[in-house]
Amino acid sequence: MNFFGVTIVLLLQYLNITALIISTNLRVRSIMENKKKIFSIVLVLAMVIGTVALSGCTQEDENKIIIGTSADFPPFEFKAEDQTIIGFDIDLIKKILTDQGYTVEVQDIGFDSLIPSLQTDKIDVIAAAMTITEQRLQEVDFSDPYYDANQAVLVKVGVPINITSIEDLKNYTVGAQTGTTGWAWVNDTLVATGKLSSDNFKSYDLYTDAVADLIIGPERVGAIVIDSPVAQAFAEKGNVKIVLDIITNENYGFAVKKGNTELLAQINEGLTAVKATTYWDDLIEEYFAS
Ligand code: ARG
Repeated sequence: MNFFGVTIVLLLQYLNITALIISTNLRVRSIMENKKKIFSIVLVLAMVIGTVALSGCTQEDENKIIIGTSADFPPFEFKAEDQTIIGFDIDLIKKILTDQGYTVEVQDIGFDSLIPSLQTDKIDVIAAAMTITEQRLQEVDFSDPYYDANQAVLVKVGVPINITSIEDLKNYTVGAQTGTTGWAWVNDTLVATGKLSSDNFKSYDLYTDAVADLIIGPERVGAIVIDSPVAQAFAEKGNVKIVLDIITNENYGFAVKKGNTELLAQINEGLTAVKATTYWDDLIEEYFAS
């Protein structure tokens, strides 16, 4: 029960006691008529307050938005030391929604399960550096774009890997996160064309696991295809580096369930509003300045 609910219950109890005291006094004076009157007033009051309290509760649920993400993608979404999920996407959507009076909760879900979770109402919005693609537009609605990206190839620093062109990837084990545009690029450009054997294509649930494998060494995975701003963020830690850029011209958008035009309009309005404030610059500074 929330604070509001507790207050209402205490108030009702107080009214009951008051009614009892008053009625006891009245009984002493034996004025039955007044007792009935007071009792009905208390009853009506209780009903009114109860109704208000209940509507307060349902309103609170309606006002709650569940944000789904895959917290393996710095600086867009990742876990802080205390395990809370933060990042450019997350902070941005939280700001947009809380400014419009919503309460928010962030849920960490596998990237591949985000769209199904949205379609089955387990979450209300996806904030996961998700690229707006034709295929996804068949399944969800996207907000206006909020960030641009390409793909990049990451390798471990100090290992004898020589990748200077897309063709060179065929000599190594290549990894990507299942369900991503990076995964689709490897699949369509390398595997489907016979350039890379499917045995040399490794799918990961999390990009953080892919990078962890990369750092273990080429016996696990030799190269990872991943969104360029995220490759940059991993490379800044020093163990891995970018050896190739793959120009894919992607735009990230927040996704809502198909037909949820009301929430989509609120997100777009909020995005435009936030972009016009210093909050936007501070966010860029916080997550992209290095
Ligand atoms: N932008 C790419 C895509 O939409 C990768 C996104 C991965 N996001 C994540 N949070 N792991 O497919």
